[in-house]
Amino acid sequence: MRVTSAALPSDPPIDDTELSTTETLDRSLLSAVARSGEIEQALATDASRFRVLTGDRPTGRLHLGHYLGTLANRVRLQDLGVQTMLLVADYQVITDRDDAGPIAERTRELVTDYLAAGIDPARTTIFAHSAVPALNQLMLPFLSLVTDSELRRNPTVKAENEATGGRPMSGLLLTYPVHQAADILFCKANLVPVGKDQLPHLELTRVIARRFNERYAGGATVFPSPDALLSEAVNVLGVDGQKMSKSRRNTIDLAMTEDETTKQLKRAVTDSDRNITYDPVGRPEVANLLSIAAQLGAGTPEALAAQIGDGGGGGLKKLVTEVVNEHLRPIRARRRELEADPGYLASVLAEGNARANEIADATLAEVRDAMGMTYR
Ligand code: TRP
Repeated sequence: MRVTSAALPSDPPIDDTELSTTETLDRSLLSAVARSGEIEQALATDASRFRVLTGDRPTGRLHLGHYLGTLANRVRLQDLGVQTMLLVADYQVITDRDDAGPIAERTRELVTDYLAAGIDPARTTIFAHSAVPALNQLMLPFLSLVTDSELRRNPTVKAENEATGGRPMSGLLLTYPVHQAADILFCKANLVPVGKDQLPHLELTRVIARRFNERYAGGATVFPSPDALLSEAVNVLGVDGQKMSKSRRNTIDLAMTEDETTKQLKRAVTDSDRNITYDPVGRPEVANLLSIAAQLGAGTPEALAAQIGDGGGGGLKKLVTEVVNEHLRPIRARRRELEADPGYLASVLAEGNARANEIADATLAEVRDAMGMTYR
C-alpha cells in the first residue's frame, strides 16, 4: 500500500515555469558570465574551496578543439589545487544512438587522452558512470523533483534531438539532464566548467538541489548549489573552415602523429591574399589558424600575422604546423608510454571508480536518511 500525505499545506506546488525559457536563459547566461569573473579571482586565492566535476561522453578521440576548449582548462584547474572529478559519461553515449559502440576501447582512449594532456590521477579522480551504482540511483529521487514539461522545454535536449535527424526521442535523451544533475551532485561539486550549451542543464541541477533540500530534507543543505564556470567561447575551426568536429573529418586529433598533423594542416583552407593579417570577420580561416597558434602560446595573433607578413597561406601553415607539433610533442610522448602500459591505465580507472563509489555511497546514505528511507 502506498500511503501519502498529498498536498500538505506547507508543500508548495512545483513552480515549473522557472526553467529554460529564452528569457531565463539570457538571464542565466549574463549572471554566469558575471559570476565566472568572481570565481576566477576566488580560484587564484583559494582553489581548495572548489570541487569541480566535468566529463565527456566517450564517443571518439579528442581533438585540438576539445583541448583548447576544455581539456587545457581542466589541467589548469587541477594544477591550481582544485579538487577535480573527471567523468567518463558512458551511459550518456546511448542517449542519441542505437548502441554504445566500442565503448571499452573508447573509454581507454579517452582516459589516455586525459593523462597524456596532463591530468594527474593522483589529484584528479577519473571514473565512469556505469561503475558507480549509487550515483545512478540518485536519478530516482531527482526525477521526482522535475516535471515532464520542464524536461521537454530544455533547449539543448531539443537541439540534440533534432540533430538525430528524426530519430524518436528516447526516455534517456529526455531525462539525461537529470542524470547529469546526479553526476554533479553525488560528489557535491560546487563548480562546473561548461560551455553555453550546458547552462540549461546546470540550471536544472540547481533547481533539483534546491527542491531536494526543501522537500526531502526539511530545508537542510544536503546539496549545495553549483556554479557554472563559463569557458570563453573558443570556436576552433577545422581545416575546412567549418567548426572542428569528428563527423566532418576536419579535426587535428591529439593522437595524430607529426606527419598526420602536417598533412592535415596542409589541407587547411586559407585565402588568396598573400599578406597575412588577423581579421576574424573578414578572413575567418586565416584568423582561426593564427588563433590556434596564439592559444598554444606562440604570441598574439597580430604579432604572428606580422611575423608571417607576405608569406601567404604556405608560410602561415608552416608556422602553425610547427607550433602545434611542438606543443603536442610531450603529449604524444606521454601517450606512447601510456599505450605501452595498459595495466596502468586500467588501474587508474579502477582507483578512480573506487574513490567515486565511496563518495556516492556516502551521499546516497545521506539522501536515504533525509528521506526517512532507513530500515535498520
Ligand atoms: N554532457 C556533457 C557533454 O556532452 C558531458 C557530461 C556528462 C557532463 N555529465 C556531465 C558535463 C556533468 C558537465 C557535468 O559534453
